[in-house]
Amino acid sequence: MKKILITGGAGYIGSHTAVELWNAGMEPIILDDFSNSQVEVLDRLEEITGKRFVFYRGDCSDKTLLHEIANAHQIQGVIHFAAFKAVGESTQSPLIYYKNNVGSLVILLEFMQEKGIKDLVFSSSCTVYGQPDVLPVTEATPRKEAESPYGNTKKIGEDILVDFVKSKAGVRVVALRYFNPVGAHPSAKIGELPIGTPQNLVPFITQTAAGIREKLTVFGNDYDTPDGSCIRDYIHVVDLADAHVKALHFLTDQPLNFYDVFNVGTGRGNTVLEVIHAFEAVNNLTLPYEIGPRRAGDVVKTWADTKKINQVLGWFPAYDLDACMRDSWRWQQFLMKG
Ligand code: WQD
Repeated sequence: MKKILITGGAGYIGSHTAVELWNAGMEPIILDDFSNSQVEVLDRLEEITGKRFVFYRGDCSDKTLLHEIANAHQIQGVIHFAAFKAVGESTQSPLIYYKNNVGSLVILLEFMQEKGIKDLVFSSSCTVYGQPDVLPVTEATPRKEAESPYGNTKKIGEDILVDFVKSKAGVRVVALRYFNPVGAHPSAKIGELPIGTPQNLVPFITQTAAGIREKLTVFGNDYDTPDGSCIRDYIHVVDLADAHVKALHFLTDQPLNFYDVFNVGTGRGNTVLEVIHAFEAVNNLTLPYEIGPRRAGDVVKTWADTKKINQVLGWFPAYDLDACMRDSWRWQQFLMKG
């Protein structure tokens, strides 16, 4: 059975990807420092899959640990999730973002070369496009000036990978540019773990519905969109996880010194108000919200052109917005059971 090292594998997207890797007949080896995840996730993963995944607690910039893992397991690929990802925090503390997100990637690549590990799937983001001039966004859409140090670490990460591949390092790399990951595993045993006040829309919606937050503020309804609120491409986290599995399979058929990029979205855009109304309808509840001022740095509208990932990876989303809203709420209810 192929063993795949997942850095940040106990995190939101990492844990869902571990499940889909197992379902696809591969064995995840999880590395996580639990700075933005909880060790209990491993128990939940065992409940879902029946398998206790091997895991290592630590930082993916710890090369000694990386070698310890590779000496104990024949690692045949890496999925690199481990990174800080709070846009606002990155503006306050840019150096910890560059040190962690960029520094760790460099060390991970050195490790892969030292061990002869060829395949890497890199977690990138649609944030590299900024506000696209033309929609939907294709992989040929020019990247723009990053809106935040967080977004810049993703652009720099992609640039590092391009140069590393060009240096004939003998690796094969796919960068996946995520649009907006939302939702949770249908089992409601894993999902996005809220640490502090949620910055993202859907966790704030579910915490408001749960009474943890008094009301949701819609950050502006005077934009040039059908109902005035911003548009995003919300993709179910299980669909996103499946894209990583398909990317790994794709890499095994590629020559060495290979690099490619794929948008991972549904190809559909929804406004904030549409998301709120879908959440209310699917879960048969009323969400207290108010319209507030715009949030600085927000992209007005973005959604993916998914032709490339559809045709090249054979990947298509299985979940729609209603399923995302249903699963998000079921996860929040699981969390409230304590
Ligand atoms: C979505 C929409 C807000 C909260 C960020 C990162 C991106 C990626 C996904 C990691 C926007 C509106 C939000 C609220 C609101 N992260 N909103 N009230 O900003 O599109 O993307 O998360 O890869 O890199 O930038 O996601 O969920 O914060 O916002 O009205 O309380 O919801 O204005 O229009 P965003 P988001």
